[in-house]
Amino acid sequence: MNYVWDWGNLLFRWLHVVAAIAWIGASFYFIALDNHLRPPAEERDRDRGVGGESWEVHGGGFYRVEKFLVAPEKLPSPLHWFKWEAYTTWLSGVALFIVVYYVHASTYLVDPSVRNLSTWAAVAISVGGLVVAWVVYDGLCRVIREERLLAAAVFGFIVLSAWVMSELLAPRAAYVEVGAMIGTMMVGNVFFVIIPAHWELVRAKQRGEEPDPKHNLRGKTRSVHNNYLTLPVVFAMLSNHSPFTYGHSYSWLILVAIMALGAWVRHYFNLRHVGRNAWWILASAAVGFVVVAVAIRPSGSKPQTTGAAVSFAQVQRVIEQRCVPCHSQHPTEPGFSSAPAGVRFDTRAEIEQQAERIKEQAVDSHAMPLGNATHMTQGERDLLARWLASR
Ligand code: HEC
Repeated sequence: MNYVWDWGNLLFRWLHVVAAIAWIGASFYFIALDNHLRPPAEERDRDRGVGGESWEVHGGGFYRVEKFLVAPEKLPSPLHWFKWEAYTTWLSGVALFIVVYYVHASTYLVDPSVRNLSTWAAVAISVGGLVVAWVVYDGLCRVIREERLLAAAVFGFIVLSAWVMSELLAPRAAYVEVGAMIGTMMVGNVFFVIIPAHWELVRAKQRGEEPDPKHNLRGKTRSVHNNYLTLPVVFAMLSNHSPFTYGHSYSWLILVAIMALGAWVRHYFNLRHVGRNAWWILASAAVGFVVVAVAIRPSGSKPQTTGAAVSFAQVQRVIEQRCVPCHSQHPTEPGFSSAPAGVRFDTRAEIEQQAERIKEQAVDSHAMPLGNATHMTQGERDLLARWLASR
């Protein structure tokens, strides 16, 4: 059965990444296009209702794109919509979340050292988080009209979510959960706001009426929100490769700091597309990354190297008990059919070769054992540290 989940993991992940590339690519393209628009050169284009135009060259051809202030005179056909990129990204993301985190919730979602939740409680919290994310975000958008205030409120909500999830779920799951919450806000924007706004425009045209420009604005605002959320959400989804972030004791703060820097970088590019080179934004973001990197560097405090010398046999006993149930050619831990990440510690050579990775995952951070499924003790981590220091 685990083998089936492994395939689900592969295929959903593949689909999820490809759909997200298409969605984010479209978001980047259309925001950049909007920012590149210049008032139409010809009077008669203006009379046709064109608000801006842009010349582009790509793939061996010249394109002239026009944006109508509200809608063209006649409803064009065919009219291309952009929505399945978003829906596919979300649906495949949920499927991936299920096959990785929900099916093996006791290993991936729950960490008893964070909170001793039942698997059902953890899954309920995760699903509930997605619903709450949309309801709160959408509510904030409806209530707060001032752009900066709204941005601050949404950011505050994300900070709160990051903290709450870090108090409830396993650290790596908490990061992905916050990413999924933001992804849900984004797809909610498409499904509940942007696409319905487009329908309002289309239906008005079909009735032979002039559409109300407030629908253009509504769609545009949420579309800009989504654009700013792209970099944060992608970081959250990739974070699982960086245990020095989620494995830190202030993991929630690091998550929101890096996400904020991502949105800040996006702001630079959006300004750049309207012709402003606000280089100081990039410079301050770079400083921000350095500050975060220095703040969370692995503590230099030397683990106690005093005490009796550690023999390899002692090390191997710990690893066999705490790591090998998963990291083996033949894992015994329920839910694992092959060595996770291809990392095996069956032999002395395998352990010695990967000493640095053991240090990174189980000594410098507590990323491993995953969810401390095998109940590794601090004493055992110190023992590994002493062995690593003496090599
Ligand atoms: C409950 C199962 C389980 C246990 C026990 C476990 N791991 Fe892992 N380990 C995993 C999984 C799952 C991954 C893959 C993580 C991913 O997909 O990013 C992994 C990945 C790793 C990686 C590769 C990380 C990377 O991103 O390159 C290392 C190294 C590692 N584990 C070391 C250890 C050590 C050392 C121990 C024992 C102290 C241990 N693991 C115990 C499940 C486990």
